[in-house]
Amino acid sequence: MRPAKIALPYFDLLIEKINSGDINAQQAFGRHVHWGYWPQPDQADGSLADFAIATEQLSQRVYTAAGIKENDRVLDAGCGFGGTIASLNETFQNLHLTGLNIDPRQLARARQEVMPLANNQIEFVEGDACKMPFADASMDVVLAVECIFHFPSRVEFFREAHRVLRPGGRLGICDFVPLTLFRTFHQFLSFLRSPLDQGFYGRVDFLTTLSDYRAIAQETGFVLSAEEDITRQTLPTYPVVRHLFGQVADPEAVQTTASVEKVSQLGLLRYRILSFTLAD
Ligand SMILES: C[S@@+](CC[C@H](N)C(=O)[O-])C[C@H]1O[C@@H](n2cnc3c(N)ncnc32)[C@H](O)[C@@H]1O
Repeated sequence: MRPAKIALPYFDLLIEKINSGDINAQQAFGRHVHWGYWPQPDQADGSLADFAIATEQLSQRVYTAAGIKENDRVLDAGCGFGGTIASLNETFQNLHLTGLNIDPRQLARARQEVMPLANNQIEFVEGDACKMPFADASMDVVLAVECIFHFPSRVEFFREAHRVLRPGGRLGICDFVPLTLFRTFHQFLSFLRSPLDQGFYGRVDFLTTLSDYRAIAQETGFVLSAEEDITRQTLPTYPVVRHLFGQVADPEAVQTTASVEKVSQLGLLRYRILSFTLAD
């Protein structure tokens, strides 16, 4: 199997664990590889089963915000193991679903796990979300679920999303969005790792604020049509992930997760669902 074209040590670990039959890795991240959404975070019970339900709810929340409807052609950029495509497939009929991922190993699992239902069509395609191998005006909705921070450039991704969307198209994402104040402090103090660092989570850029997103949207022909701050509803993720990685990964992974947890608890780093429509 060819390796990924980018270094994502957390995926190397997950793939190794899932392939070797690790039940915990499978339950937590075998379908979705993102944080969970708990409508009532105080009722989270810390179990992997509860976490799996919450990760499913996060996907549903992002694609509901993007307004998916029957007969849409949907592109899920950075599709992981195909969890969001699987959820759409189980919820809607007559969709044309495309998962795009830079990592052929993840795509191999997605192709194995996700079979079309209810007159849906599904394909998984290898490629870069900033150089999409798709024709102009070929999609109704583009999604990027908790992955845009890995892409080489948010501006290039937005440009590509604009190119492949048809008139009336929508773009739905979720991302870690810092307060401007925190971004400034971070740049000064390097409290979190810099965007170019390559730790357990690979290259991660958490430095795009909400006003940056508005500017990127304007520059690339989109309008920010809705945004929701769900930081509080994602917080029960951290103990589960710290515990899981604490058992199988190195201390750096646990430390990085704990740092992101701390700045999220303090409200300096927010978790947001953002929806965009075409400006023209
Ligand atoms: C945190 S995972 C999220 C996966 C999936 N969206 C989910 O929610 O389960 C980040 C994903 O982004 C993918 N990715 C990173 N850089 C990419 C790029 N330039 N183009 C396409 N996919 C990319 C990774 O391979 C991985 O699948």
